[in-house]
Formats: sequence, structure tokens, C-alpha cells
Amino acid sequence: MSIKPAQTQKRILVTGSLGQIGTELVSRLRKAYGPENVIASDIKKPSKNHFSIDGPFEYGDVTNIDTLAQLIVKHNIDTVFHLATVLSALGEKMPDVALKVNATGIQNVLELSKSHKFQVIAPSTIAAFGPQTPKEQTPDITVQRPTTIYGVTKVYTELLGEYYQKRFGVDFRSLRLPGIISSEALPGGGTTDYAIEIFYEALTKGQYTYLSEVPENRLSQRTYNITAMSFTPKELADSIRKVKMPRFSISYNPDFRQKIADTWPKSIDDSIARRDWKWRPDYALDEMVKDMFEKLEPKVKKN
Ligand SMILES: NC(=O)c1ccc[n+]([C@@H]2O[C@H](COP(=O)([O-])OP(=O)(O)OC[C@H]3O[C@@H](n4cnc5c(N)ncnc54)[C@H](O)[C@@H]3O)[C@@H](O)[C@H]2O)c1
Repeated sequence: MSIKPAQTQKRILVTGSLGQIGTELVSRLRKAYGPENVIASDIKKPSKNHFSIDGPFEYGDVTNIDTLAQLIVKHNIDTVFHLATVLSALGEKMPDVALKVNATGIQNVLELSKSHKFQVIAPSTIAAFGPQTPKEQTPDITVQRPTTIYGVTKVYTELLGEYYQKRFGVDFRSLRLPGIISSEALPGGGTTDYAIEIFYEALTKGQYTYLSEVPENRLSQRTYNITAMSFTPKELADSIRKVKMPRFSISYNPDFRQKIADTWPKSIDDSIARRDWKWRPDYALDEMVKDMFEKLEPKVKKN
């Protein structure tokens, strides 16, 4: 789905902006809404030329509500893309930190949105499902009993957001993303990072921006499944051979991340996102592989 030109003036804060998704999203948002209107923040320091479009950056720890409140007021924020998270594989190594960042972070953002009246876009994930969830064509509303701390905090994010929407009128929106492949940032401790280690590119183009613009009366729910493609390492290798490198070979060495991935659905039903706000993915596997090589080859050659 392509990014739409801005229809409204926005003042946006992106938390956790130096991660895989933030690195791409900030540049896309800056293109759509103007660089000065998109404030990137993180607890890390950005490297030089971190974003392809420059703009303001602020230190911002989401576990500290006072720091967040200062950023919201200082920059007159009306939309928060809340990305600061400890992902699944890293979360299993330090569950206490994951609990604090993921649960306290969304709690702080939602609490501030009550008084400061900004829109909250917070991604969820297929890791919010669990081993008892139906594996094929998993619907939006179903059994969610995740077995990772990351998954547990994402169920909390979804439910707390929906609660604040119903109880306090907060404009909370969420997408359950599958694994994301990004060429702009290195893997951040997720379970599907294997695909990134093979390439580094993005398959989701501007979907958040689009969801944030959809009129509220078109949303029949607040948390949506979305999916673009589903592939195994073998299918990915086959596509690499077909598109670019006929002699490419691959070997498998599954580690603890495989056990985590085994608890997730195999395919996702995103028909309600397609119906409500016309979600359509731009990419299928071969197109993604082609695009990855086009973007990654110059980087590899440069290094
Ligand atoms: N990457 C994926 O495949 C994937 C899949 C589904 C959902 N998501 C969701 O997308 C969002 C972003 O994920 P990502 O892949 O960019 O993660 P990432 O790990 O690459 O980036 C997370 C960022 O959060 C920052 N951060 C950590 N603790 C923080 C704190 N206390 N305050 C502020 N920032 C902090 C980190 O420094 C990092 O830059 C998350 O909500 C994640 O659950 C990602």
C-alpha cells in the first residue's frame, strides 16, 4: 500500500524511532507531513544520516511519563506512533525489561493521550497469538494465549488501547504485523530476523500512515490483522534463486527462535482490514526479493 500525500497537518512523535520499523517510518512520515512535523525519539543516539530525511530528534524513554509529557507539550503533538518495544527473542532473554518497556510504555502513552488528546498508533504482532490460536486463516477475534513475555505485553497493549478508546474516547489504532523485513536497520531481537539477515528490506510501505488517516467511522474495530505474504526459509531461498542468484544455497540451523515461531499462526485472515480501510499489500515474495537486491546491492558494494 503506497503512502498517501498528507491530507491534514499533523504534529507527530515517533517513540523507539531508531529500530527497524521506525527508521523507515520516520522518513516516510517526513515525506508525507514535512520533516519539521515528525519528531523522532529513542533512548539511543541516532547515527549520522540515520534517516533518509533529516528532522528533529529528541531523547525519550517511554518508561518515564514526565519525559514523554514534556515532549508532547513542547512539540504540540497530535499523533504518537508508539514503536518503543523489546521484541520477542530479546524479551525472552530479559523478561523484566520487556515487561517494563512494553507494558509501562503503552500505559504512559495512553494515560497522556487522555489529557493531551492525541491519536495513538501502536503496532501489535502475530506474537499476540499463541499455541491454542487456530493456525490457519487466524481471524481478528480469537483465542490469544501467547507464551512469550513480548506476546503477553502485546495482548495488554491491544486490550488497554481498546479500553481507553471505549472508556475515554482515545483514538487508538493498532495493526497486528507479521515479521517485518527492513533494509534500513539491523535486526532488533525479533523472531523473524532470519529473513532480514538474508536481505534487509521493507515489505510494508506506509501502512501506518494510511491507517492513521482513515476516518474513525470506517473503523469497525481498533486492532486489525494484516498480512502481505507468508513464506518458509526454503520458499525464500527458491525465490532468490529464481529472481537473482540461480546458484544460491542455504543451510538451516534453527535455534530457540523456531520454538517461539511455532506458537504463531501460519496464515492470517486480514479480510476485515481489507474491507474497512482497503488494506492491500504492494508486495508478493518475488517482488520483495527483487526490491531487496536492488536496495541492498549498492550498500553491500559500498561496504
Ligand atoms: N520487526 C518486526 O518484525 C515486527 C513485527 C511485528 C510487530 N512489530 C512491532 O513494531 C514495533 C517496532 O518494532 P521494531 O522492529 O522497530 O523494534 P526494534 O527492536 O528494531 O526497535 C525498538 C526501538 O525501541 C527503542 N527502545 C527500547 N526501549 C526503549 C525505551 N524505554 N524508550 C524509548 N525507546 C526504547 C530501542 O532503542 C529501539 O530503537 C514494536 O511495537 C513491535 O512490536 C515489529
